[in-house]
Amino acid sequence: MFLCIKMRSLIKFVIFTVLLLVIYLQQPLLADTVDKASGAKVFSANCAGCHINGGNIIRRGKNLKMRALKKYKMDSVEAISNIVTYGKNNMSAYKDRLSESEIQAVSTYVLKQAENNWRKQ
Ligand code: HEC
Repeated sequence: MFLCIKMRSLIKFVIFTVLLLVIYLQQPLLADTVDKASGAKVFSANCAGCHINGGNIIRRGKNLKMRALKKYKMDSVEAISNIVTYGKNNMSAYKDRLSESEIQAVSTYVLKQAENNWRKQ
């Protein structure tokens, strides 16, 4: 009888641990898809007007393709979120229009898209 109770609580413990592990492992995946979705949304609402398909309708050379990002040292989330926050020349600042997490999401999205050469998803 005593053993039986012990076994049951052991089984409960194992199931609980496995469940926790599953939830824990799912999280980065979930965070990634949410980030990508909202990054894409922020981009199409705020950036696509000038940067449609990763281009630049005002200054063609300063586009969002990996080559240009590398050339102008914009190939990091920090650098992109910096230009988005404070703007530069003909690109306006977004610090009053976007939240910090939106800026983070859109910058991550831009870098990911550049890595994928702006292929349609
Ligand atoms: C009004 C048009 C316009 C909009 C809207 C705009 N940009 Fe820009 N963007 C520019 C221009 C012009 C430049 C070039 C700035 C410079 O270096 O002189 C630029 C440069 C950049 C660069 C650097 C590219 C490089 O190759 O150096 C990044 C990254 C960027 N924009 C991201 C964004 C993101 C993300 C958004 C939306 C939140 C956005 N831009 C909205 C016009 C725009």
